Amino acid sequence: MLSFDVTVRSGRRSPCLVRVGAGVLRSLPRDLRARLADRTLVVVSDATVARLHGRPLAERLRSAGFETALVTFPPGESSKSRDTKAEIEDRLFALRVGRDSAILAVGGGVTTDLGGFVAATWNRGVPLVHVPTTLLAMVDAALGGKTGVDLPGGKNLIGAYHQPEAVYADVATLLTLPDRHFAAGFAEAVKTAAIADVALFRWLETSSTGLRERSTRLLATAVASCLRIKGRIVARDERERGRRAILNFGHTVAHAIEAASEYRIPHGHAVSIGLVVESRLAVSALGFPSSHAARIETLLRAFGLPTALPASIDPVRVVEATRRDKKSRGGEVRCALPRSLGRMLAGNEVTLPIEPRRLRRALSDRTTFGKRASH
Ligand SMILES: NC(=O)c1ccc[n+]([C@@H]2O[C@H](COP(=O)([O-])OP(=O)(O)OC[C@H]3O[C@@H](n4cnc5c(N)ncnc54)[C@H](O)[C@@H]3O)[C@@H](O)[C@H]2O)c1
Repeated sequence: MLSFDVTVRSGRRSPCLVRVGAGVLRSLPRDLRARLADRTLVVVSDATVARLHGRPLAERLRSAGFETALVTFPPGESSKSRDTKAEIEDRLFALRVGRDSAILAVGGGVTTDLGGFVAATWNRGVPLVHVPTTLLAMVDAALGGKTGVDLPGGKNLIGAYHQPEAVYADVATLLTLPDRHFAAGFAEAVKTAAIADVALFRWLETSSTGLRERSTRLLATAVASCLRIKGRIVARDERERGRRAILNFGHTVAHAIEAASEYRIPHGHAVSIGLVVESRLAVSALGFPSSHAARIETLLRAFGLPTALPASIDPVRVVEATRRDKKSRGGEVRCALPRSLGRMLAGNEVTLPIEPRRLRRALSDRTTFGKRASH
């Protein structure tokens, strides 16, 4: 088991405990007794994850002497909504769950974002524990304290920062994850390496076959490496006042693709396309070496991810959607771009304005570095 603490500078008293490995959920009841004794533990999961992992975990906690409840919602990005949040809150009220509770968000990034947002506002905030069960949520969504829901026209437009007490990334849960959702997680892992750690990028290149075959040993290493990097970035800038924005490489375009596709394209697949499109912008805007952009694209393909905008999505709609991105300022669309693999712009101003015309060209460009881009 890999175990470490992440302390976020937000006046929190205790650091976030991070545990990564196959079987780490076994130590959850014991650890929670030390941290959240006497609280009702509400497991929040989508229906698929509830069946596979959420209900068994709630039962284990009940056997360990905790008061527990299970609240479920339908799977999918469309549940990351104000309506579903309200339904969960109505359920908590009906179950008479009060201030002496804690939320365990057990599931993918939709669950950690939605369950985390419920925890942030229920009775003005109750403790939160994340149990990510997708690779994407393990390498990224579960750490950092961003919680929230979407509007039909834009991603994550309503939300709050609410730091988890602990994150339990049990890579054994990934063995039940369908291929499409498993692949999606690698997009955030590639992003993390590309923005901060060229050695990790190289390791992903050499380990991609074993990772795709779901070696739990390699997966635990990948998850822990990404979480350590994210933890370092978030610890210095919890509220994204500056440098935390480097985590958004690929995401201005990704969020716009998700909105333009009416959330039919999964987040990780949109991030993969976003990384390739924003790499192209970085080549022209910052002299990002084309050879580095090619390595990003090749690695994403090695993980079975799409690297070009599907023909069914009009680039004009994507450009339109970027105007509603949270990072835009005064109507100007901004992207966090790399200078080279592992290195972003220095200082706190890490995003650059991108003209809509250039963005549209990058979105429509299906040839990359002399090769035909496929998806
Ligand atoms: N807060 C953050 O910092 C942050 C960072 C990155 C992404 N996100 C958000 O994460 C969301 C995407 O997360 P996601 O890709 O995990 O999607 P998801 O939560 O919808 O999970 C994908 C699918 O996998 C199923 N599933 C989950 N775990 C499973 C398991 N172990 N076995 C079988 N099926 C399982 C779910 O039921 C769902 O159908 C997006 O909304 C994105 O905005 C948030």
